[in-house]
Amino acid sequence: MELAELTRTLEALRDEALSAIAVARDLTELEAVAVDILGKKGRLTVVSRSIGSLPPEDRPKVGAVANPVRAAIEAAIAERTKNLHSEALAAQLGAESVDVTLPGRPVARGSLHPIMETIAAIAEVFAQFGFVVYESPEVEDDLTNFQMLNIPPDHPARDLWDTFYTDIDGYLLRTHTSPGQIRVMRAEKPPIRALLPGRCFRYEATDASRASEFFQVEGLMVDEGTTMGDLRGLLDEFAQAMFGHGKRTRFRPGYYPFTEPSVAFDVECLVCGGSGCPACQRTGWMAILGAGMVHPVVLQYGGLDPERYQGFAFGMGVERIANLRHRVGDLRQYMENDLRFLEQFR
Ligand code: PHE
Repeated sequence: MELAELTRTLEALRDEALSAIAVARDLTELEAVAVDILGKKGRLTVVSRSIGSLPPEDRPKVGAVANPVRAAIEAAIAERTKNLHSEALAAQLGAESVDVTLPGRPVARGSLHPIMETIAAIAEVFAQFGFVVYESPEVEDDLTNFQMLNIPPDHPARDLWDTFYTDIDGYLLRTHTSPGQIRVMRAEKPPIRALLPGRCFRYEATDASRASEFFQVEGLMVDEGTTMGDLRGLLDEFAQAMFGHGKRTRFRPGYYPFTEPSVAFDVECLVCGGSGCPACQRTGWMAILGAGMVHPVVLQYGGLDPERYQGFAFGMGVERIANLRHRVGDLRQYMENDLRFLEQFR
């Protein structure tokens, strides 16, 4: 090839390369152009090699054309590469953009079961009077559930608690939280202020107001000089905090083998305010719990000297308290764990 022709070829190659670079739509296309022109077997490379076949005096002249051509092409590729990179980034940012002003998707949150929520509310009231929450076993021995609570075997008072016995002799499902009194007295020294919430079991035909599984909260206070007046005052404070200030309360005589004297504690009917309605069987009162002064025999079983210490205890049904707050008709709903029921208490 002679000089003039070679120069034309180089310039044509440059123009073709520059327009191919300009229209390359992405980095892959651009890379293909680069290989086609500048690669080992690329067209510019091949042409440049043929410079060697020119007469020596022509070579610098062709070099003076070929070198700027290569430089121009390389610069164009570098420039286009940079542009394609930023175009790609802009496109990606556009596609992945997040509208931070959109409202968030709500996360489904769990909530406390109404029975647990009621236990927490009860514990919160008694915590203000220094009562600490304890646990006590659900599978209990006959001794602690009955005998140490002053209920001997074959005592007619056992009929008050229809019992689920286990197939291990002497063990049963606790019928109330009162055995926790014995366990706390044996574990602690007075002054004792204990609250014992927990699940209890009774062998009963279930209906809307009776279930074979239910919760109780037991309270126990033991100290020197503890009186029935302390019990009355504490329960009255509890009733005001739980059911509203200004509520009238009363003690009625009751019977439990492990307290003497024993009482039932009533609050004025929350529906009629005391005038009498179907909700309170026209009595004007609602029974809240059983209570009394801890029987000396029970203190002794608890390892305490009844000459020195006195105590009171009370026990309430949690479903009953929950019902007075939420007015659920059928107690069994607390045990069924139907979400349609439970979600109303969120
Ligand atoms: N344990 C009694 C019950 O089931 C309640 C109670 C507790 C009464 C403490 C007096 C003192 O039903």
